[in-house]
Amino acid sequence: MSTPTAQPENLMEAIVSLAKRRGFVFPSSEIYGGLNGFFDYGPMGVELKKNIRDCWWNDMVRRRDDVVGIETSIIMHPKVWQASGHVDGFTDPLVDCKASKQRFRADQLFFSPVVIDGEVKGYVSALESEDTVGALQTAAEAFKRKKALQGALAPVVAKDMTEAAPEEIAQIPSPATGEPGSLTPPRAFNMMFETNVGAMRDASSVSYLRPETAQGMFVDFKNVVDTGRVKLPFGIAQTGKSFRNEITPRNFIFRSREFEQMEVQFFIHEDDDWAKWHRYWIDWCIDWLRSIGLPDTHLSEYDHLKEKLAFYSKGTTDIMFKFPFGVQELWGIAARGNYDLTQHEKASGVPQAIFDEASKKKFIPHVIEPSVGLDRIFLAVLTAAYAEEPVTDEKGNTEIRTVLRLSPRIAPVKVAVFPLLKNKEALVERAKALHKKLQRRYAVFYDEVGNIGKRYRRQDEIGTPYCVTIDFDTIEKEGDTFTLRERDSMAQRRVTEAELFALLDETVY
Ligand code: GAP
Repeated sequence: MSTPTAQPENLMEAIVSLAKRRGFVFPSSEIYGGLNGFFDYGPMGVELKKNIRDCWWNDMVRRRDDVVGIETSIIMHPKVWQASGHVDGFTDPLVDCKASKQRFRADQLFFSPVVIDGEVKGYVSALESEDTVGALQTAAEAFKRKKALQGALAPVVAKDMTEAAPEEIAQIPSPATGEPGSLTPPRAFNMMFETNVGAMRDASSVSYLRPETAQGMFVDFKNVVDTGRVKLPFGIAQTGKSFRNEITPRNFIFRSREFEQMEVQFFIHEDDDWAKWHRYWIDWCIDWLRSIGLPDTHLSEYDHLKEKLAFYSKGTTDIMFKFPFGVQELWGIAARGNYDLTQHEKASGVPQAIFDEASKKKFIPHVIEPSVGLDRIFLAVLTAAYAEEPVTDEKGNTEIRTVLRLSPRIAPVKVAVFPLLKNKEALVERAKALHKKLQRRYAVFYDEVGNIGKRYRRQDEIGTPYCVTIDFDTIEKEGDTFTLRERDSMAQRRVTEAELFALLDETVY
């Protein structure tokens, strides 16, 4: 018997620990101490990641008539990144701490004056967190106590370092040392990784690891139009690695320096109703996230403020997810006008306008771009799926089981097959035959080690939705049935091979 799902207080710690223990995610180059912002995916992780990617590809490309896929190179002509604006503008504001040599993103480093009886007595700072204002207030109270100041402390007013006046910067304490005087004014830091192409290492050979997959779709737009038998509205999709030299990679795989994106450029007629298509894609993305098991309780929408949008952007909405460290962006859906294709037309000299048969007009199409990070979805599904719950067996013994309630669509192993006893040849033979047959279509795990309860627990931890046990009824009674045990309810029932395949066919798609 199990009680309702419970999540531990420190969910993030539990997820990182499970990810390591069960082979989902390892720190990159761990035997050399790891490399900040880089991760490896282990045997379970690579399956989970591939399943998420495959579900997205199937639903986005194969099961639609209006989206085609491509795969473009990671290193592209450097002029691509000049035309797209990345060389000049793909920056985050950076603040150095000269004393500790640490670096902070200026928009994630907050400060406030400490105001007592209407007079500024100093400054406090805090890194962005779920409760930045609370952290600043606590720091202000500590400041007042430490300096033995009398009077009424005003509530803090949080600003980030991009808003700090030069005279304030000198007084704001570094979060690394707690002392003022070591922070530099913010400066723009370009996040693209540079490399050199060819044998020469000079300015002419500089190129970049792509910071987004999107430009590949724009640069190949005419190739797809000329060869793909597409007509507006249509999309070009791709999945693949992107690289950003993030100033502060953090929260496990949430913000890393090498990550995978799944992006679509959906091209529409210049006179089409962009807002309608924008809404359509927001809804599509939310439905898709539900289809891989993310609950509505964790999903929300955030509309970017009009005044903060790039000049060419008509609107951007982020689908937000409730991560253990706060509500954060999961998927961005941007209406980008015809900015990117226009830029590439100007820079390359190759016309990007197409002739639309339906309207008999020639123009550069506009685009709606749903763009998501695969690693971020990976973390979101672990967040929503992780549970620790007490279970009581028929003898009345209670233990805690860790379970990943992953959707069967994305679970790394779809079904585990156990012979009841490993020393009974007939049971082992039947189990191995079933295992072989299932393997042709599904990721299956065969396990004959330990008692059945232990084997169930091992599968619960990696999110296997179904376990089947070959027992004496299978081989001795008519009907060739097995015990099927469902992960979430832990209910058991007898099924035939045909019923098992039908169940998998329905739930794994
Ligand atoms: N082409 C548009 C674009 O790249 P973005 O908002 O910079 O837009 C899109 O990135 C998505 O890629 C984000 O919503 C996020 O899911 C993912 N992403 C961005 N930076 C990331 C990072 N450093 N680590 C992991 N995922 C990241």
